[in-house]
Amino acid sequence: RNFKSSMECRWDIDRLNAPFLAIYESLIPPEEEKAKQKQLLTLLEKLVNKEWPEARLYLYGSCANSFGVCKSDIDVCLAIPDANIDKSEVILKLADILESDNLQDVQALTRARVPIVKLMDPATGISCDICINNVLAVVNTKLLRDYARIDVRLQQLAFIVKHWAKSRGVNETYQGTLSSYAYVLMCIHFLQQRRPAILPCLQEMEATYAVTVDNIECAYFDRVEKLCDFGSHNRETIAQLVWAFFHYWAYRHDYTNTVISVRAGSLLSKRTKDWTRRIGNDRHLICIEDPFDVSHDLGRVVDKFSIKVLREEFERAAEIMQYDLNPCVTLFEPYVA
Ligand code: CTP
Ligand code: MG
Repeated sequence: RNFKSSMECRWDIDRLNAPFLAIYESLIPPEEEKAKQKQLLTLLEKLVNKEWPEARLYLYGSCANSFGVCKSDIDVCLAIPDANIDKSEVILKLADILESDNLQDVQALTRARVPIVKLMDPATGISCDICINNVLAVVNTKLLRDYARIDVRLQQLAFIVKHWAKSRGVNETYQGTLSSYAYVLMCIHFLQQRRPAILPCLQEMEATYAVTVDNIECAYFDRVEKLCDFGSHNRETIAQLVWAFFHYWAYRHDYTNTVISVRAGSLLSKRTKDWTRRIGNDRHLICIEDPFDVSHDLGRVVDKFSIKVLREEFERAAEIMQYDLNPCVTLFEPYVA
């Protein structure tokens, strides 16, 4: 009898809703964190405008895309209208300015793929990365934020997936695993694919927002307040979705032939994108198309070793969701080498 009831209990996936929601809620940043971010941005704006009066600062990444958990660093883009600036020069100049205003740990990384200045603000305790003219990141940040406004299950799923990825050490692009940005795109794609769908494909709808950035046309339907009922025909709970997400990436995804595309709202074939061969360092072992820069595979950081690590982690998570008595703890147990 005990055995039977524990089996029943094990299969009642919805028993996990309350604990998953509690984890999600514990990760939401408190209001005062937002206020501190604003305070730092205002200070930076003042300093930057003394040197470059035309320049503007934009927040991007997790502090602006609704997928930021508490105590995140902030990502800032310095937009300077002059097209002929030398980014490295600006980075060095900016680092000088910040350092003389007592910001701490100022570092100019001029040789990174995306050159940035890093700093820590002692007044708020916030760390910050500033890049130059990376406007595409500002636009894809808005796309993610707009998706998040359609159905709260996206934010819930993405927080849990990001928390899992960080705990398990598979959110390290320099070690060949995936960026947070890639995980959020995987969540959006996954919810576009549920039947009935939980998210629409905004880029396939009539464009109400359009900008051209670095010769890339970025256009999509951004009146998302009109879509707040979109997912209501699908009653899947967060526990069911977490289960299905890991099950999909562990056992169902066709890594050999397909590309996930939030832009198309469907899977694409690797062949049509010509992502079948290794070219230089791009291997395409897991393919995640950037929604605007469609030649960019966010999986290109993944190599033949890290793909194994990733897939084993997806399988571990799927097994835990299926069989473990306490998935909400086991899933997030830190990985120790
Ligand atoms: N970005 C991008 N292309 C990439 C990686 C990142 O355009 N290959 C941009 C996206 O705008 C993304 C931002 O950089 O939102 C920050 O990326 P990342 O650090 O991966 O995500 P965050 O949302 O900031 O996550 P975290 O909470 O881990 O900082
Ligand atoms: Mg970030």
